[in-house]
Amino acid sequence: MNQMIERVKTSSQKEKPSVDALGFGKYFSDYMFTMDYETEKGWHSPKITPYEPLVLDPSAMVFHYGQAVFEGLKAYRTDDGKALLFRPLKNIKRLNLSCERMSIPTLDEDLVMDAIHQLVELEKDWIPNGEGTSLYIRPFIIATEPYLGVRPSHSYKFMVILSPVGAYYSGQLNPVKIYVEDYYVRAVPGGVGHVKTSGNYAASLKAQNNAEELGFEQVLWLDAKEKKYIEEVGSMNIFFKINGEVITPKLNGSILSGITRDSVIELLKHWDVPVREERISLEDIFKAHANGDLEEVFGSGTAAVISPVGELKWGNESITVNDNKIGQLSFQIYDTITKIQLGRADDPFNWTFEV
Ligand code: COI
Repeated sequence: MNQMIERVKTSSQKEKPSVDALGFGKYFSDYMFTMDYETEKGWHSPKITPYEPLVLDPSAMVFHYGQAVFEGLKAYRTDDGKALLFRPLKNIKRLNLSCERMSIPTLDEDLVMDAIHQLVELEKDWIPNGEGTSLYIRPFIIATEPYLGVRPSHSYKFMVILSPVGAYYSGQLNPVKIYVEDYYVRAVPGGVGHVKTSGNYAASLKAQNNAEELGFEQVLWLDAKEKKYIEEVGSMNIFFKINGEVITPKLNGSILSGITRDSVIELLKHWDVPVREERISLEDIFKAHANGDLEEVFGSGTAAVISPVGELKWGNESITVNDNKIGQLSFQIYDTITKIQLGRADDPFNWTFEV
């Protein structure tokens, strides 16, 4: 049986931000979920308490050796006022996969589901009401043991916080300019690229900053060994439409198994659009462009859903995709997924979960 989730009431409620002010990840709701782990006790004391700062020992292991994993999913407000989660169990399963890789004790899936469900239900009023808005749910785990030896921590904290958000990128469906990063890599074979651990994002910042300084919005990550094959774009998975067929890099151990990536593949199969997961070389993409076969390129992720790519720069070469306009299929995918998320379209896949 699930552990009971204790509740501690807040004495004051924050003012909710206006939709125009939202941006991404700047505001946090009134409550959070916490649960602790010690080796002798296992995971214990699940609680929903007022959102507040943490007190941690400066020697807490997360600060030194980076044992930290996280997830990101969203709750949406439907036109008739219901709250819907999108494929929450997928995130919970991936969180446990990340835990396994990072030597963090895994969580009971039903309890995490219950925690997210109860927290979102309590904070329903924090789901913003406006086009392109949602309540971003951030579950995460950190190593809390005060100790400086290198080994897995003996204590952890699992938390879930909520943030009302607007679009991840300003100009949501404006095609972005991508810089192909051919020196730095995001992940290596046998490494941690396939899981959501904080260090992956820290490691990506330098290349991202360089790209921004050169006037690009995101980087295209190549494989670490040969710098030849495409892995991800920014913090998203990537898709190419070539001559009527859609391809995306096959999960190879260093690519994150995106939930939006999976949804795009399912949707395309449902529409009978040919879709393949395979190793894709950048050279083949540039060749397809030269032959006039490269029709659309887009990134997929929870934060942005779909992000069209308008330009790719690789060394001295630069290509423009679909005249720098959003492709028809990219738009159709974005439109269908967001309508399902908002309860405005049929959900033949049972992706949404009512809170
Ligand atoms: C996503 O696309 O959802 C991401 O991975 C970005 C997130 C870490 C803010």
